[in-house]
Amino acid sequence: MKILLTGKNGQIGWELAHALAPLGEVIAFDRGGLDLAVPDQIVGAVRSVRPDVLVNAAAYTAVDLAESEPDAAHAVNAAAVAVMAEEAKRVQALLIHFSTDYVFDGMKDIPYIEEDRPNPINVYGRSKLAGEQAIRSIDGPHLILRTSWVYAARGRNFFLTIRRLLREKDEVRVVSDQMGAPTPAEALASATGTLLRQHGAANLGETRGTYHVTAAGHTSWHGFATEIARLELPDHPNPPRILAIASDQYPSPARRPGNSCLSNEKLLRCFGIELPRWEACLEAFHGRLKQSARLDGATRYRR
Ligand SMILES: NC(=O)c1ccc[n+]([C@@H]2O[C@H](COP(=O)([O-])OP(=O)(O)OC[C@H]3O[C@@H](n4cnc5c(N)ncnc54)[C@H](OP(=O)(O)O)[C@@H]3O)[C@@H](O)[C@H]2O)c1
Repeated sequence: MKILLTGKNGQIGWELAHALAPLGEVIAFDRGGLDLAVPDQIVGAVRSVRPDVLVNAAAYTAVDLAESEPDAAHAVNAAAVAVMAEEAKRVQALLIHFSTDYVFDGMKDIPYIEEDRPNPINVYGRSKLAGEQAIRSIDGPHLILRTSWVYAARGRNFFLTIRRLLREKDEVRVVSDQMGAPTPAEALASATGTLLRQHGAANLGETRGTYHVTAAGHTSWHGFATEIARLELPDHPNPPRILAIASDQYPSPARRPGNSCLSNEKLLRCFGIELPRWEACLEAFHGRLKQSARLDGATRYRR
């Protein structure tokens, strides 16, 4: 299987480059090798690689900055995605594309299902929704995987920010009225690998559509921060206080949905795939992080 991967240095892209390697030949691009803002580069890459699967993990992900750069967000998250979908269809490649909980307005009381009506409340969400719509209307073989609250050992994410703040501050204020499922990039990459391994690109193309893929369960950002602190500072005699605040006490350029919870039932029903609960994912991720730090700090002896 020949896999063209974009965004190889992003949180999900980096994990995908590793998780997909055993499945065949992965030709992975960073922005330097393939700039999605330049449509000709997309056309050139797909036509020269002629992949069986095109995995798009690149995106304009600066949610707040997007409010003042709507054209840049749209170019990468919508216009480029339309070109990718056209080119993938042309070579009959399966397009696997990542999207977001931010396509919803967060007003629903229970987790969103794939058929719920999107209604994004910020520029980033609107640009991601436009990308989804382009893929659906071009209608080549595709999977749109919507996820939420992604974290990893690299990149910019809530886990790494809280970890740093716990070392620097006596008190950390965290929003408690936005709910979602913290999801490790590694689990998403592994689920994507399982989808391809178990079902194959051709079969997945037949089951084209949109699927929600997040860790199970949900919490608030405050709950997530509290759990990070429990794992990071288990024996701390005087740990920093983690104060719950409302969204309006933490003003930001982009509005965020109150309810970001996505139901994963369709993924389980169609493919038999289910991610563990977010607490278990976080504990496993944290264990691996500690282990690799220990290895980095250890003296290595060579024979
Ligand atoms: N992070 C989340 O919480 C979250 C939640 C829901 C859905 N998602 C979706 O998941 C996907 C991956 O997100 P992530 O968290 O892995 O994002 P990320 O860490 O910000 O990675 C995105 C990657 O896209 C690349 N990129 C940006 N503009 C580009 C361009 N013009 N041409 C080529 N590459 C470009 C970036 O390259 P540079 O490093 O050079 O900028 C970066 O490596 C995205 O579709 C995102 O919308 C993310």
